[in-house]
Amino acid sequence: MKLVIINGPNLNLLGKREPEVYGSDSFEDFLKSLQEKYTNISLDYFQSNIEGEIIDKLHEVGFESDGIVLNAAAYTHTSVGIGDAVKAIETAVVEVHISNVHSREDFRHKSFIAANAKGVIFGFGLKSYELAIESFL
Ligand code: DQA
Repeated sequence: MKLVIINGPNLNLLGKREPEVYGSDSFEDFLKSLQEKYTNISLDYFQSNIEGEIIDKLHEVGFESDGIVLNAAAYTHTSVGIGDAVKAIETAVVEVHISNVHSREDFRHKSFIAANAKGVIFGFGLKSYELAIESFL
């Protein structure tokens, strides 16, 4: 099984960025622990701060992978283009967020992805990604 984790803007700063909201672990360390845990899955990772690169990646993997775990970060709340890409591809997408977006500012309650996602998981810290992976098993 091949799963792809795609992270959007500012998530390259995990561990350094607002640790009270997003925790103090880097995503690279967390990814290593996931890859060690799920040895029978091919777990690829892509991060970009650029909207079009995220869309290109969805097009690239969205017809040949078995599942996509997408944290589009701030673009979740703004990007019709990423929402349309999720709708356009064949591979199921699970939308994830580290924080509980519904306990935060109103603008974080809107998602352009959720309507076309297989499901949405948010509020469990980095564990949200693990729960999303489990949903594909
Ligand atoms: C986030 C929540 C978004 O609102 C925010 O813009 C992020 C991260 C999360 O994982 O909690 O950058 O997607």
